[in-house]
Amino acid sequence: MTPVTAEDVRRIGQGFHEDPARSMSLRAEAYTDPRWLDADVQGIFARTWQWLCHVGKLRAPGSYVSATVAGMPVAVVRGRDGGLRAFYNVCKHRAHELLSGSGTTRNIVCPYHAWTYGLDGSLKAARRADRMETFDKSEICLDQVQVEEFGGMVYVNLDPSAAPLRQQAGDLAEDIARWAPDVADLTHAKRLTYDVASNWKNVIDNFLECYHCHVAHKEFVDLVDMDTYEVRTHGIWSSHFAEAGKHENAAYDVSEASVTEHAVWWLWPNTCLLRYPGRGNFMVFQVLPAGVDRTLETWDFFLETTELEPAEEESVRYIDDVLQQQDIAIVESVQRGMATPAYDQGRIVYDPAGSGLSEHGVHHFHGLVLDAYRSLVQPSEDPADQPLRPAVRTAVRTA
Ligand code: FES
Ligand SMILES: [Fe+2]
Repeated sequence: MTPVTAEDVRRIGQGFHEDPARSMSLRAEAYTDPRWLDADVQGIFARTWQWLCHVGKLRAPGSYVSATVAGMPVAVVRGRDGGLRAFYNVCKHRAHELLSGSGTTRNIVCPYHAWTYGLDGSLKAARRADRMETFDKSEICLDQVQVEEFGGMVYVNLDPSAAPLRQQAGDLAEDIARWAPDVADLTHAKRLTYDVASNWKNVIDNFLECYHCHVAHKEFVDLVDMDTYEVRTHGIWSSHFAEAGKHENAAYDVSEASVTEHAVWWLWPNTCLLRYPGRGNFMVFQVLPAGVDRTLETWDFFLETTELEPAEEESVRYIDDVLQQQDIAIVESVQRGMATPAYDQGRIVYDPAGSGLSEHGVHHFHGLVLDAYRSLVQPSEDPADQPLRPAVRTAVRTA
């Protein structure tokens, strides 16, 4: 597949304006042409901080989590020294993957020929090779990947030159600490998964505006006070906040709720963090491309206990059976519409007051996508010098 060129990047940005009041949305081609999926994986997913798991999963010495990030197998390990390290999950002998799933281990032992690495990635033993005169195991260690604890979660970044997440979005960690101070103490209680026939950017676009809420989410606009809904964009994240959970509503029971705000954050490019009315809770909605018109979604619930209370069962049912079904039908319809000659791009609807009925969060996302596309072709004058690697079908998937 031909990689995108500087000319392609210029064309895909046409109609976008820095001012949301004058801007069109990102062109449909970016959602339907497989070449832009390659650009998304190499220019976005391989260079940004990707959510991996809750800190609780990597608390104990020797605990590990393996995952696939931008098509690359990675593993994060808590060392006995307390340090968190991430590696390409690939053996230096003949490239077999090392750890699978998650758990606790003393060493990292390759399942192929049993080369054994310490939790710091250094090679400790290589059967038979240890007798070879020219074999020096001290020269061999796993390739490291950037990893960071941030806002009660663990994130990784394949780009060795990426700035730390707390440098890029430190104010997000502060905002999360303000509205969800208990996040690191919560425990994983439930995961929902979805396979959606739409480009991942359509899922994010839809997540970033509540202009559709009165029309598509009758129960949601009963749960939250839409008059207080506010969307703010900041650097590489945005916040979506509303007062909520004060009265009986069509979504779920909030009569015992200790959390009465609806606080939602989006972290560039594909991590959605949510705190809904109820008991102490935090949710991670991760959106992963699996094809130009296919997206895998995971919705993880972190609660005070692993057992759900009846009101929490009801809120999970609302998200799974009502909210998600409404949004999935929307983004699948939009994907079909974008694949027709009848649509190229549409006008961003903007309210300078920043209300939930404004699409400036979508515009903010599109600006970051275009910046990432430009960075793919900018380092060299000649785009031919910047070939993309082959398409990766699943950008991130936690084991
Ligand atoms: S590939 Fe890992 S020990 Fe051979
Ligand atoms: Fe929605």
